[in-house]
Amino acid sequence: MLSWDEFDKTDEAEPAKGANAGHASEAAMDKLDSAGGAAALEARAVSANDSAAIARAKAELDKLDVAEGLAELEGSAARVAVDEKRMINCRADLNQLVPFKYDWAWQKYLDGCANHWMPQEVNMTTDIALWKDPEGLTDDERRIVLRNLGFFSTADSLVANNLVLAVYRLITNPECRQYILRQAFEEAIHTHAYQYCIESLGMDEGEIFNMYHEIPSVAKKAAWGLKYTRSISDPKFETGTVETDKELLRNLIAYYCVLEGIFFYCGFTQILSMGRRNKMTGVAEQFQYILRDESMHLNFGIDVINQIKIENPHLWDAEMKEEATQMILQGTQLEIEYARDTMPRGVLGMNAAMMEDYLKFIANRRLSQIGLKEEYPGTTNPFPWMSEIMDLKKEKNFFETRVIEYQTGGALSWD
Ligand SMILES: [Fe+2]
Ligand SMILES: [Fe+2]
Repeated sequence: MLSWDEFDKTDEAEPAKGANAGHASEAAMDKLDSAGGAAALEARAVSANDSAAIARAKAELDKLDVAEGLAELEGSAARVAVDEKRMINCRADLNQLVPFKYDWAWQKYLDGCANHWMPQEVNMTTDIALWKDPEGLTDDERRIVLRNLGFFSTADSLVANNLVLAVYRLITNPECRQYILRQAFEEAIHTHAYQYCIESLGMDEGEIFNMYHEIPSVAKKAAWGLKYTRSISDPKFETGTVETDKELLRNLIAYYCVLEGIFFYCGFTQILSMGRRNKMTGVAEQFQYILRDESMHLNFGIDVINQIKIENPHLWDAEMKEEATQMILQGTQLEIEYARDTMPRGVLGMNAAMMEDYLKFIANRRLSQIGLKEEYPGTTNPFPWMSEIMDLKKEKNFFETRVIEYQTGGALSWD
Protein backbone atom coordinates (compact mmCIF):
# COMPACT_ATOMS: atom_id res chain seq x y z
CA MET A 1 0.00 0.00 0.00
CA LEU A 2 1.23 3.48 -0.80
CA SER A 3 1.74 5.90 2.05
CA TRP A 4 2.24 9.65 2.11
CA ASP A 5 4.16 9.47 5.43
CA GLU A 6 7.61 9.74 3.92
CA PHE A 7 6.56 12.78 1.88
CA ASP A 8 4.99 14.51 4.87
CA LYS A 9 7.96 16.62 5.98
CA THR A 10 6.83 20.20 6.67
CA ASP A 11 7.98 22.58 3.97
CA GLU A 12 9.27 25.84 5.52
CA ALA A 13 7.87 27.99 2.73
CA GLU A 14 4.40 26.51 3.04
CA PRO A 15 1.98 27.72 5.72
CA ALA A 16 1.22 24.99 8.27
CA LYS A 17 -2.17 23.31 8.02
CA GLY A 18 -4.26 24.75 10.85
CA ALA A 19 -7.76 25.31 12.10
CA ASN A 20 -8.06 28.43 9.96
CA ALA A 21 -7.34 26.67 6.70
CA GLY A 22 -10.38 26.96 4.45
CA HIS A 23 -11.67 30.00 6.35
CA ALA A 24 -9.45 32.64 4.72
CA SER A 25 -11.20 35.98 4.30
CA GLU A 26 -12.37 36.96 0.82
CA ALA A 27 -9.96 39.91 0.75
CA ALA A 28 -7.04 37.63 1.57
CA MET A 29 -8.12 35.21 -1.16
CA ASP A 30 -8.37 38.08 -3.71
CA LYS A 31 -4.89 39.22 -2.75
CA LEU A 32 -3.59 35.69 -3.20
CA ASP A 33 -5.36 35.41 -6.58
CA SER A 34 -3.74 38.55 -7.99
CA ALA A 35 -0.33 37.52 -6.60
CA GLY A 36 -0.78 34.10 -8.24
CA GLY A 37 -1.74 35.66 -11.58
CA ALA A 38 1.33 37.93 -11.55
CA ALA A 39 3.62 35.03 -10.62
CA ALA A 40 2.20 32.94 -13.48
CA LEU A 41 2.80 35.78 -15.98
CA GLU A 42 6.36 36.19 -14.71
CA ALA A 43 6.98 32.51 -15.39
CA ARG A 44 5.87 33.08 -19.00
CA ALA A 45 8.42 35.89 -19.61
CA VAL A 46 11.25 34.79 -21.89
CA SER A 47 14.53 34.81 -20.02
CA ALA A 48 18.14 34.80 -21.23
CA ASN A 49 18.44 31.13 -20.16
CA ASP A 50 15.60 30.01 -22.44
CA SER A 51 16.52 28.11 -25.58
CA ALA A 52 14.90 29.12 -28.88
CA ALA A 53 12.53 26.12 -28.58
CA ILE A 54 11.38 27.14 -25.07
CA ALA A 55 10.91 30.78 -26.22
CA ARG A 56 8.77 29.52 -29.14
CA ALA A 57 6.63 27.42 -26.80
CA LYS A 58 6.03 30.42 -24.50
CA ALA A 59 5.18 32.69 -27.47
CA GLU A 60 2.69 30.13 -28.78
CA LEU A 61 0.94 30.05 -25.37
CA ASP A 62 0.63 33.87 -25.50
CA LYS A 63 -1.78 33.34 -28.39
CA LEU A 64 -4.01 30.87 -26.47
CA ASP A 65 -7.54 32.21 -26.19
CA VAL A 66 -9.17 30.62 -23.11
CA ALA A 67 -12.68 31.66 -24.14
CA GLU A 68 -12.27 30.06 -27.54
CA GLY A 69 -10.96 26.79 -26.04
CA LEU A 70 -13.77 26.48 -23.50
CA ALA A 71 -16.45 27.35 -26.05
CA GLU A 72 -15.77 23.98 -27.68
CA LEU A 73 -16.75 22.11 -24.52
CA GLU A 74 -20.17 20.50 -24.34
CA GLY A 75 -22.85 22.31 -22.36
CA SER A 76 -23.03 25.78 -20.86
CA ALA A 77 -20.26 27.44 -18.83
CA ALA A 78 -22.32 27.91 -15.65
CA ARG A 79 -22.08 25.91 -12.41
CA VAL A 80 -24.38 22.91 -12.73
CA ALA A 81 -27.61 22.55 -10.72
CA VAL A 82 -28.88 19.02 -10.22
CA ASP A 83 -32.25 19.58 -11.89
CA GLU A 84 -30.57 20.70 -15.11
CA LYS A 85 -29.11 17.22 -15.55
CA ARG A 86 -30.75 14.93 -18.07
CA MET A 87 -29.98 11.54 -19.56
CA ILE A 88 -30.14 12.75 -23.19
CA ASN A 89 -30.10 16.19 -24.86
CA CYS A 90 -28.76 17.89 -21.71
CA ARG A 91 -27.41 21.45 -21.99
CA ALA A 92 -25.53 21.59 -18.66
CA ASP A 93 -21.70 21.29 -18.62
CA LEU A 94 -20.87 17.58 -18.94
CA ASN A 95 -17.43 17.92 -17.35
CA GLN A 96 -18.89 18.69 -13.91
CA LEU A 97 -19.45 15.28 -12.33
CA VAL A 98 -21.22 16.55 -9.21
CA PRO A 99 -23.85 17.28 -7.96
CA PHE A 100 -25.11 13.77 -8.76
CA LYS A 101 -28.62 13.35 -10.09
CA TYR A 102 -28.48 9.59 -10.68
CA ASP A 103 -26.90 8.20 -7.50
CA TRP A 104 -27.52 4.66 -8.77
CA ALA A 105 -25.13 5.25 -11.69
CA TRP A 106 -22.33 6.43 -9.39
CA GLN A 107 -23.00 3.48 -7.04
CA LYS A 108 -22.70 1.06 -9.96
CA TYR A 109 -19.41 2.69 -10.94
CA LEU A 110 -18.12 2.15 -7.37
CA ASP A 111 -19.41 -1.45 -7.30
CA GLY A 112 -17.79 -2.19 -10.67
CA CYS A 113 -14.43 -0.90 -9.40
CA ALA A 114 -14.73 -2.95 -6.18
CA ASN A 115 -15.27 -6.10 -8.30
CA HIS A 116 -12.14 -5.58 -10.37
CA TRP A 117 -10.43 -8.79 -11.53
CA MET A 118 -7.92 -9.88 -14.18
CA PRO A 119 -7.96 -13.08 -16.30
CA GLN A 120 -4.39 -14.13 -15.39
CA GLU A 121 -5.48 -14.54 -11.75
CA VAL A 122 -7.43 -17.67 -12.70
CA ASN A 123 -5.58 -20.97 -12.71
CA MET A 124 -5.96 -22.74 -16.08
CA THR A 125 -3.72 -25.77 -15.41
CA THR A 126 -6.43 -28.44 -15.11
CA ASP A 127 -8.26 -27.03 -18.15
CA ILE A 128 -5.13 -27.37 -20.27
CA ALA A 129 -4.65 -31.01 -19.18
CA LEU A 130 -8.31 -31.85 -19.80
CA TRP A 131 -8.42 -30.10 -23.21
CA LYS A 132 -5.25 -31.87 -24.40
CA ASP A 133 -6.39 -35.30 -23.19
CA PRO A 134 -8.12 -37.01 -26.16
CA GLU A 135 -10.44 -38.75 -23.67
CA GLY A 136 -10.94 -35.62 -21.56
CA LEU A 137 -14.14 -34.26 -23.11
CA THR A 138 -16.81 -35.57 -25.47
CA ASP A 139 -17.16 -34.06 -28.96
CA ASP A 140 -20.39 -32.36 -27.86
CA GLU A 141 -18.59 -30.78 -24.90
CA ARG A 142 -15.72 -29.60 -27.12
CA ARG A 143 -18.21 -28.08 -29.53
CA ILE A 144 -19.70 -26.03 -26.69
CA VAL A 145 -16.31 -24.69 -25.58
CA LEU A 146 -15.26 -23.81 -29.16
CA ARG A 147 -18.55 -22.20 -30.20
CA ASN A 148 -18.79 -20.10 -27.06
CA LEU A 149 -15.21 -18.86 -27.20
CA GLY A 150 -15.89 -18.09 -30.87
CA PHE A 151 -19.01 -16.07 -30.11
CA PHE A 152 -17.79 -14.27 -26.99
CA SER A 153 -14.27 -13.44 -28.21
CA THR A 154 -15.78 -10.93 -30.66
CA ALA A 155 -19.13 -10.15 -28.98
CA ASP A 156 -17.53 -8.15 -26.18
CA SER A 157 -15.62 -6.10 -28.76
CA LEU A 158 -18.93 -5.31 -30.48
CA VAL A 159 -20.33 -4.12 -27.14
CA ALA A 160 -17.22 -2.04 -26.33
CA ASN A 161 -17.19 -0.43 -29.78
CA ASN A 162 -20.87 0.36 -29.54
CA LEU A 163 -20.26 2.06 -26.20
CA VAL A 164 -17.26 4.20 -27.10
CA LEU A 165 -17.99 4.90 -30.76
CA ALA A 166 -21.73 5.40 -30.61
CA VAL A 167 -23.44 5.56 -27.20
CA TYR A 168 -20.97 7.53 -25.04
CA ARG A 169 -21.30 10.94 -26.68
CA LEU A 170 -25.10 10.68 -26.87
CA ILE A 171 -25.63 9.97 -23.15
CA THR A 172 -25.41 13.49 -21.75
CA ASN A 173 -24.88 12.76 -18.08
CA PRO A 174 -21.44 12.66 -16.44
CA GLU A 175 -22.15 10.04 -13.73
CA CYS A 176 -23.56 7.68 -16.38
CA ARG A 177 -20.56 8.41 -18.63
CA GLN A 178 -18.30 7.53 -15.70
CA TYR A 179 -20.01 4.13 -15.48
CA ILE A 180 -19.86 3.68 -19.27
CA LEU A 181 -16.08 4.22 -19.14
CA ARG A 182 -15.82 1.57 -16.41
CA GLN A 183 -18.03 -0.78 -18.44
CA ALA A 184 -15.91 -0.24 -21.55
CA PHE A 185 -12.80 -1.26 -19.57
CA GLU A 186 -14.62 -4.34 -18.25
CA GLU A 187 -15.49 -5.30 -21.84
CA ALA A 188 -11.77 -5.06 -22.64
CA ILE A 189 -11.05 -7.38 -19.69
CA HIS A 190 -13.67 -9.83 -20.97
CA THR A 191 -12.12 -9.90 -24.46
CA HIS A 192 -8.77 -10.38 -22.71
CA ALA A 193 -10.25 -13.31 -20.71
CA TYR A 194 -11.44 -15.08 -23.87
CA GLN A 195 -8.09 -14.48 -25.55
CA TYR A 196 -6.37 -15.87 -22.44
CA CYS A 197 -8.51 -19.05 -22.54
CA ILE A 198 -7.91 -19.50 -26.30
CA GLU A 199 -4.16 -19.05 -25.88
CA SER A 200 -3.92 -21.27 -22.77
CA LEU A 201 -5.77 -24.10 -24.51
CA GLY A 202 -3.62 -23.77 -27.64
CA MET A 203 -6.63 -23.29 -29.93
CA ASP A 204 -6.46 -22.06 -33.51
CA GLU A 205 -6.81 -18.31 -32.87
CA GLY A 206 -7.74 -17.45 -36.45
CA GLU A 207 -10.54 -20.02 -36.45
CA ILE A 208 -11.98 -18.82 -33.14
CA PHE A 209 -11.77 -15.07 -33.72
CA ASN A 210 -13.21 -15.36 -37.24
CA MET A 211 -16.10 -17.60 -36.18
CA TYR A 212 -18.52 -14.69 -36.22
CA HIS A 213 -18.00 -14.55 -39.99
CA GLU A 214 -18.02 -18.30 -40.57
CA ILE A 215 -20.62 -19.97 -38.33
CA PRO A 216 -24.20 -18.89 -39.16
CA SER A 217 -25.63 -19.12 -35.62
CA VAL A 218 -22.78 -16.89 -34.35
CA ALA A 219 -22.76 -14.57 -37.38
CA LYS A 220 -26.50 -13.86 -37.16
CA LYS A 221 -26.26 -12.62 -33.57
CA ALA A 222 -23.31 -10.35 -34.40
CA ALA A 223 -24.99 -8.97 -37.53
CA TRP A 224 -28.21 -8.30 -35.62
CA GLY A 225 -26.35 -6.19 -33.05
CA LEU A 226 -24.15 -4.37 -35.58
CA LYS A 227 -27.24 -3.13 -37.43
CA TYR A 228 -28.09 -0.99 -34.40
CA THR A 229 -24.54 0.37 -33.99
CA ARG A 230 -24.42 1.42 -37.64
CA SER A 231 -27.48 3.62 -37.30
CA ILE A 232 -26.07 5.86 -34.56
CA SER A 233 -22.30 5.68 -35.07
CA ASP A 234 -22.31 8.19 -37.94
CA PRO A 235 -20.43 11.22 -36.51
CA LYS A 236 -23.18 13.45 -37.94
CA PHE A 237 -25.89 11.61 -36.00
CA GLU A 238 -27.44 13.79 -33.29
CA THR A 239 -30.31 13.18 -30.91
CA GLY A 240 -32.91 15.89 -30.31
CA THR A 241 -35.76 14.86 -32.58
CA VAL A 242 -38.35 12.19 -31.79
CA GLU A 243 -36.94 9.96 -34.53
CA THR A 244 -33.28 10.24 -33.51
CA ASP A 245 -34.07 9.91 -29.78
CA LYS A 246 -35.97 6.72 -30.62
CA GLU A 247 -33.00 5.52 -32.65
CA LEU A 248 -30.74 5.84 -29.59
CA LEU A 249 -33.34 4.07 -27.46
CA ARG A 250 -33.43 1.19 -29.98
CA ASN A 251 -29.64 0.92 -29.75
CA LEU A 252 -29.77 0.74 -25.94
CA ILE A 253 -32.48 -1.92 -26.03
CA ALA A 254 -30.55 -3.90 -28.68
CA TYR A 255 -27.32 -3.90 -26.70
CA TYR A 256 -28.35 -3.92 -23.05
CA CYS A 257 -31.57 -5.98 -23.21
CA VAL A 258 -30.76 -8.29 -26.14
CA LEU A 259 -26.97 -8.62 -26.66
CA GLU A 260 -25.91 -8.48 -23.02
CA GLY A 261 -29.33 -9.53 -21.69
CA ILE A 262 -30.18 -12.54 -23.94
CA PHE A 263 -27.35 -13.40 -26.37
CA PHE A 264 -24.93 -14.16 -23.53
CA TYR A 265 -27.20 -16.47 -21.61
CA CYS A 266 -27.09 -19.76 -23.54
CA GLY A 267 -23.26 -19.68 -23.55
CA PHE A 268 -22.96 -18.65 -19.91
CA THR A 269 -25.32 -21.45 -18.87
CA GLN A 270 -23.46 -24.07 -20.90
CA ILE A 271 -19.99 -23.14 -19.66
CA LEU A 272 -21.10 -22.74 -16.04
CA SER A 273 -22.86 -26.11 -16.26
CA MET A 274 -19.52 -27.56 -17.34
CA GLY A 275 -17.85 -25.97 -14.29
CA ARG A 276 -20.51 -27.44 -12.00
CA ARG A 277 -19.53 -30.86 -13.34
CA ASN A 278 -15.89 -30.16 -12.56
CA LYS A 279 -14.88 -29.77 -16.20
CA MET A 280 -13.00 -26.76 -17.63
CA THR A 281 -13.17 -25.12 -14.22
CA GLY A 282 -10.72 -22.32 -15.16
CA VAL A 283 -12.74 -21.31 -18.22
CA ALA A 284 -15.91 -21.58 -16.10
CA GLU A 285 -14.42 -19.37 -13.41
CA GLN A 286 -13.54 -16.72 -16.01
CA PHE A 287 -17.14 -16.89 -17.27
CA GLN A 288 -18.42 -16.59 -13.72
CA TYR A 289 -16.59 -13.29 -13.18
CA ILE A 290 -17.76 -12.08 -16.58
CA LEU A 291 -21.37 -12.99 -15.76
CA ARG A 292 -21.16 -10.97 -12.54
CA ASP A 293 -19.94 -7.93 -14.53
CA GLU A 294 -22.54 -8.49 -17.22
CA SER A 295 -25.46 -8.58 -14.81
CA MET A 296 -24.36 -5.14 -13.61
CA HIS A 297 -24.09 -3.86 -17.21
CA LEU A 298 -27.57 -5.14 -17.87
CA ASN A 299 -29.02 -3.49 -14.75
CA PHE A 300 -27.32 -0.21 -15.60
CA GLY A 301 -28.73 -0.30 -19.14
CA ILE A 302 -32.26 -1.07 -17.87
CA ASP A 303 -32.02 1.92 -15.48
CA VAL A 304 -30.82 4.21 -18.29
CA ILE A 305 -33.62 3.08 -20.62
CA ASN A 306 -36.26 3.54 -17.92
CA GLN A 307 -34.88 6.98 -16.98
CA ILE A 308 -35.02 8.11 -20.63
CA LYS A 309 -38.65 6.93 -20.70
CA ILE A 310 -39.45 8.92 -17.53
CA GLU A 311 -37.82 12.09 -18.87
CA ASN A 312 -39.22 11.71 -22.42
CA PRO A 313 -42.60 9.95 -22.10
CA HIS A 314 -43.54 10.93 -25.66
CA LEU A 315 -40.86 8.53 -26.99
CA TRP A 316 -42.48 5.52 -25.32
CA ASP A 317 -45.57 5.40 -27.54
CA ALA A 318 -47.45 2.34 -28.81
CA GLU A 319 -45.21 2.10 -31.88
CA MET A 320 -41.99 2.15 -29.83
CA LYS A 321 -43.36 -0.43 -27.36
CA GLU A 322 -44.25 -2.72 -30.25
CA GLU A 323 -40.80 -2.25 -31.78
CA ALA A 324 -39.04 -2.93 -28.46
CA THR A 325 -41.12 -6.10 -27.97
CA GLN A 326 -40.27 -7.26 -31.49
CA MET A 327 -36.55 -6.68 -30.89
CA ILE A 328 -36.59 -8.81 -27.72
CA LEU A 329 -38.57 -11.56 -29.48
CA GLN A 330 -36.16 -11.57 -32.44
CA GLY A 331 -33.20 -11.76 -30.05
CA THR A 332 -34.82 -14.68 -28.19
CA GLN A 333 -35.41 -16.50 -31.47
CA LEU A 334 -31.76 -16.07 -32.55
CA GLU A 335 -30.56 -17.33 -29.17
CA ILE A 336 -32.86 -20.39 -29.44
CA GLU A 337 -31.27 -21.12 -32.84
CA TYR A 338 -27.82 -20.74 -31.26
CA ALA A 339 -28.86 -23.20 -28.51
CA ARG A 340 -29.90 -25.79 -31.11
CA ASP A 341 -26.69 -25.35 -33.10
CA THR A 342 -24.46 -25.65 -30.03
CA MET A 343 -26.43 -28.59 -28.55
CA PRO A 344 -27.63 -30.88 -31.35
CA ARG A 345 -27.94 -33.57 -28.63
CA GLY A 346 -28.40 -33.48 -24.87
CA VAL A 347 -25.16 -32.66 -23.04
CA LEU A 348 -24.10 -31.71 -19.49
CA GLY A 349 -27.56 -32.48 -18.09
CA MET A 350 -29.26 -30.05 -20.46
CA ASN A 351 -30.64 -29.93 -23.98
CA ALA A 352 -31.87 -27.39 -26.52
CA ALA A 353 -35.52 -27.69 -25.38
CA MET A 354 -34.61 -26.87 -21.78
CA MET A 355 -32.49 -23.96 -22.98
CA GLU A 356 -35.44 -22.72 -25.02
CA ASP A 357 -37.56 -22.62 -21.86
CA TYR A 358 -34.78 -20.79 -20.03
CA LEU A 359 -34.43 -18.21 -22.80
CA LYS A 360 -38.18 -17.57 -22.83
CA PHE A 361 -38.02 -17.11 -19.05
CA ILE A 362 -35.14 -14.61 -19.52
CA ALA A 363 -37.03 -12.82 -22.33
CA ASN A 364 -40.06 -12.37 -20.04
CA ARG A 365 -37.72 -10.77 -17.48
CA ARG A 366 -36.24 -8.38 -20.06
CA LEU A 367 -39.69 -7.38 -21.30
CA SER A 368 -41.03 -6.66 -17.82
CA GLN A 369 -37.85 -4.85 -16.75
CA ILE A 370 -38.57 -2.13 -19.33
CA GLY A 371 -42.30 -2.11 -18.65
CA LEU A 372 -43.53 -4.39 -21.47
CA LYS A 373 -45.94 -7.30 -21.36
CA GLU A 374 -44.45 -10.79 -20.98
CA GLU A 375 -44.79 -12.73 -24.25
CA TYR A 376 -44.18 -16.27 -22.97
CA PRO A 377 -46.77 -16.77 -20.23
CA GLY A 378 -46.29 -19.58 -17.75
CA THR A 379 -42.60 -20.14 -18.51
CA THR A 380 -40.50 -21.33 -15.58
CA ASN A 381 -36.76 -21.37 -15.01
CA PRO A 382 -35.26 -24.84 -15.61
CA PHE A 383 -31.85 -23.65 -14.32
CA PRO A 384 -32.48 -22.03 -10.92
CA TRP A 385 -28.78 -22.48 -10.10
CA MET A 386 -27.99 -19.75 -12.65
CA SER A 387 -29.73 -17.14 -10.49
CA GLU A 388 -27.77 -18.38 -7.48
CA ILE A 389 -24.50 -17.90 -9.34
CA MET A 390 -25.47 -14.37 -10.36
CA ASP A 391 -26.35 -13.48 -6.79
CA LEU A 392 -23.06 -14.83 -5.45
CA LYS A 393 -21.69 -12.80 -2.59
CA LYS A 394 -18.52 -12.96 -0.56
CA GLU A 395 -19.62 -15.72 1.81
CA LYS A 396 -20.26 -18.28 -0.93
CA ASN A 397 -17.82 -19.44 -3.53
CA PHE A 398 -19.33 -21.65 -6.19
CA PHE A 399 -16.14 -23.29 -7.44
CA GLU A 400 -14.38 -23.01 -4.11
CA THR A 401 -11.17 -21.91 -5.76
CA ARG A 402 -11.05 -18.42 -4.29
CA VAL A 403 -13.03 -15.70 -2.60
CA ILE A 404 -15.31 -14.31 -5.30
CA GLU A 405 -15.88 -10.80 -4.06
CA TYR A 406 -12.67 -9.02 -3.32
CA GLN A 407 -11.48 -5.47 -3.12
CA THR A 408 -8.47 -4.31 -5.07
CA GLY A 409 -5.46 -2.91 -3.19
CA GLY A 410 -3.51 0.24 -3.77
CA ALA A 411 -5.62 2.59 -1.62
CA LEU A 412 -3.82 5.74 -0.50
CA SER A 413 -3.38 6.41 3.20
CA TRP A 414 -3.80 10.03 4.27
CA ASP A 415 -2.74 9.85 7.92
FE1 LIG B 1 -18.59 -8.20 -21.49
FE1 LIG C 1 -21.10 -6.15 -20.90
